[in-house]
Amino acid sequence: MCGIVGYVGPGDAVPIILGGLKRLEYRGYDSAGLAVLENSHIELRRGAGKLAQLEKLVLERPLSGHVGIGHTRWATHGQPNERNAHPHIGMTGDVVVVHNGIVENFLDLRADLQSEGAEFKSDTDTETIVHLIERHLAQGQSLADAARASFAMLKGAQAVVAFSRAEPDRLVACRIGNAGGVVLGLGEDEMYVSSDIPAILEHTRRLVFLESRQMAIVTADGYTVETLDGEPVKPRVQVIAWDPVSAEKGEYKHFMQKEIFEQPRALTDTIRGRVDFERRKVRLSALNLTEERACSISKIITVACGTSYYAGLVGKAIIERIARLPVEVAIGSEFRYADPILDNSMAVLAITQSGETVDTLAAMEEARDKQALVWSIVNAIGSQAMRQADGYISMHAGPEIGVASTKAFTTSIIDQYLLACLLAQLRGTQEPEVLAAYIDDLARLPDLVGSVLDHDTAYRELAYQLYQYTNFLYLGRGSNYPIALEGALKLKELSYIHAEGYPAGEMKHGPIALLDESMPVLAIAVRDGVYEKMLSQIEQARARGAIVIALATEGDELIAEKADHVLYVPPTPVLLSPVVNVLPLQLLAYHIAVWRGADVDQPRNLAKSVTVE
Ligand code: AGP
Repeated sequence: MCGIVGYVGPGDAVPIILGGLKRLEYRGYDSAGLAVLENSHIELRRGAGKLAQLEKLVLERPLSGHVGIGHTRWATHGQPNERNAHPHIGMTGDVVVVHNGIVENFLDLRADLQSEGAEFKSDTDTETIVHLIERHLAQGQSLADAARASFAMLKGAQAVVAFSRAEPDRLVACRIGNAGGVVLGLGEDEMYVSSDIPAILEHTRRLVFLESRQMAIVTADGYTVETLDGEPVKPRVQVIAWDPVSAEKGEYKHFMQKEIFEQPRALTDTIRGRVDFERRKVRLSALNLTEERACSISKIITVACGTSYYAGLVGKAIIERIARLPVEVAIGSEFRYADPILDNSMAVLAITQSGETVDTLAAMEEARDKQALVWSIVNAIGSQAMRQADGYISMHAGPEIGVASTKAFTTSIIDQYLLACLLAQLRGTQEPEVLAAYIDDLARLPDLVGSVLDHDTAYRELAYQLYQYTNFLYLGRGSNYPIALEGALKLKELSYIHAEGYPAGEMKHGPIALLDESMPVLAIAVRDGVYEKMLSQIEQARARGAIVIALATEGDELIAEKADHVLYVPPTPVLLSPVVNVLPLQLLAYHIAVWRGADVDQPRNLAKSVTVE
């Protein structure tokens, strides 16, 4: 997903825009650009590649101005090159635009504009927006009227920011659907616009989030918000607690490394204030769940994508065990096309770190259309998934910048654990002393996770022995099967190594044919109900020459005789065990990627939030 930054005020827009884009680079980065109004002329600098390329262009050809917009791009239409980089300027040079999303009707619009003589310089859908605004400006309309009329013609989900040299004191910004956010930052006699919070935080924490089909007119001394029909809107100003430092790397080499090590604190934050350990009670106020409504729920359907989907698989076992409520888990990109059977006795739980994943948001819409209760577990404050749900649980993980999700995964599992306890509490479906024990188990979790992180050096050394393999198999059973899937995904997306997570019991039905010395096997064999089965799995793998790395429970010496390498984790209550077991897999994937010289925080072809289908 692309990053957008805009500024209007007495300051120089260029360093503000570059600094903001730097904080958004993780969102999408195959080209970048900025435009400012300098001496009544729109100056443009754009470059293919990383943001550093744009910074070099600005150094070579300095520019400055008090109103400007910038953009980091993850290409959807048109090659990632200078020609297609944003911002886009039209034929008259009067107006410039940056855009996030897809103009689904851009071919028709372009044909229509070309029939009137418009000449296109790029292959992007974005350029149609510029020409549409130019067409309305040419009819004598104001920028606001021209923008509103143009935005109303766009089909699909968009986030757009534009300015015109005819009205040098303002920006217009618009959000349609779920193509990432549009956030206004309220400064002192200056205003900021961005697609995400980290770009604005160092300047102000007072933010306004545009809703879908809303447009903002922003000047240095304020802003107005209206619908695309021109109806005035009174937006809510939110003060965000995140501080700019927490969105920085600190003493870590990569955001992902920092976020792995933040997990004890993130888990503490996601539990804090929600669990009364004295009375053994859980409270989730933003879920807006009454006892009556809780008792009316017959089933939960969890919907998510990628790592969040694996978190949902882990959560299924937790909610069914603690709350005694059936849970189905669906893949976001499949859900709405499967014509799911839903009604008002069901709750659809969307899990999404970014809160902007288009497939997950569409699943929420499908659920709402079929009268199901819509919940979300979400990290990004003010995101669509947080605001569209009937009730939500914030992950409280703090900003997750690394594209590979880590602390959002573990905190979203604990949010499901809290939800399970709350449902059991309200529905009376669990023995009080059993429920109390489940709640007590939470208290130790951050320390258990922290103790795994103490072995980071061992993971780094083991990674050095493994980083040159080109295939891996991750095996797990029960609630460690989703952990095997997640461990494999981490390795895939960070190191570009083909890694597959598989239910260990299925190996004999075919995949065991894969095994030989070229295929390391990581087997999750902690002391749980399927430990013995995993031991025999390990023996079968070694008998075929595969190197076996076992994830085992501290004190288990038997396994050291069976596996080539052993990663130990502390004994952990079974329902919380997946949260602890994923840490070594996160660290192993991280260190293998570092040994391979991979771009850990910005893996190729990936973006932090997938807002296009
Ligand atoms: C996780 O490491 C991946 N980056 C990806 O699978 C991610 O979990 C998925 O795109 C869902 O994102 P969300 O949680 O923001 O909806």
